[in-house]
Amino acid sequence: MLADHTTLVQFLIEERRRHPGASGDLNALILDVALACKAIANRVACGALAGVLGSAGHTNVQGETQQKLDLLANDYFLHATEWSGHVAGMVSEELDEPYLLPAEFPRGKYLLVFDPLDGSSNIDVNVSVGSIFSILRAPNPGADPAPEDFLQPGTEQVCGGYAIYGPSTILVLTVGTGVHAFTLDPTLGEFFLTRENIQIPATTGEFAINASNQRFWEPAVQRYVQECLAGKSGPRGRDFNMRWVASLVAETHRILTRGGVFLYPQDSRDPAKPGKLRLLYETNPMAFLIEQAGGAATTGRRRMLEVEPEKVHQRVPFIFGVREEVELIESYHNEIHENLDPWPLYGTRGLFRAPAS
Ligand code: F6P
Ligand code: MN
Repeated sequence: MLADHTTLVQFLIEERRRHPGASGDLNALILDVALACKAIANRVACGALAGVLGSAGHTNVQGETQQKLDLLANDYFLHATEWSGHVAGMVSEELDEPYLLPAEFPRGKYLLVFDPLDGSSNIDVNVSVGSIFSILRAPNPGADPAPEDFLQPGTEQVCGGYAIYGPSTILVLTVGTGVHAFTLDPTLGEFFLTRENIQIPATTGEFAINASNQRFWEPAVQRYVQECLAGKSGPRGRDFNMRWVASLVAETHRILTRGGVFLYPQDSRDPAKPGKLRLLYETNPMAFLIEQAGGAATTGRRRMLEVEPEKVHQRVPFIFGVREEVELIESYHNEIHENLDPWPLYGTRGLFRAPAS
């Protein structure tokens, strides 16, 4: 095992040697995050035996029910990283306000933003969940950050990654030099490099969208999905598969492995929420990974990594995957729809009926 595989520590040290000026703080922070992920993987794997399944009886700032494991995972992230002097402050999906470090710990030069347990509604049914994280530079290293310090576009990320807790636990990350995956050997408690320089396969046989929201979608998304559903005899001239795990980490991992696209588009359900997923700790780290793997990530109207954040828990529409496919969907968003019949196939050949206009 040790002779054949590179450990995460070894990989990070070799990476740092290529940047003689680097202090090692970023590596140390990534390793602390990896430790939090290992602790979460362990609790997830023990399931009911760990007494951690079920609701914690609260809702978070997003209005979502917090699971016991959401809170535990949040604690693991905070406590694995706060003491080291590498972070200056953190933002978590589970905390209303940015987390200020306890007074006794030195403030470092990085900001950590994370979703400690993504897709947590899947825990009770034993389907894959994950953690997502992004590392930014603190504008004022050594001091407590102001909330605005976290509002940096995704292009500023120094690291983006996730851990997936599935049949195996896999940490996938980028520091801007490709995307690499490390599988946890639970007997050694060590991550080993198992896929280097991941590139998204160019073929798109699958699309992922929550079709129960179809009546709220914009014409561009209606059109794209309808054309996929029309299959071989439709304008795309081939058949597609549809997938929906309701776990962004699992969907991203599938797309990095076998291609396809994911859409959680803008919809008209609630005008206060232009999308469902959160910019800083869900869409930006995933967009960084996807671009590094040769794919594309957009709101439908602009490159995700260039969105200027306005709020730490801001939601955005998110479409990502194989580049050509994402560009096609973007082109549909950019078309002027007034003169188009947005439902060319509805009611006749479509599986979905067009909503009454
Ligand atoms: O954190 C949000 C999340 O659970 C994602 O992991 C997932 O992609 C999405 O929400 C699922 O949303 P819905 O329940 O609306 O299908
Ligand atoms: Mn989430």
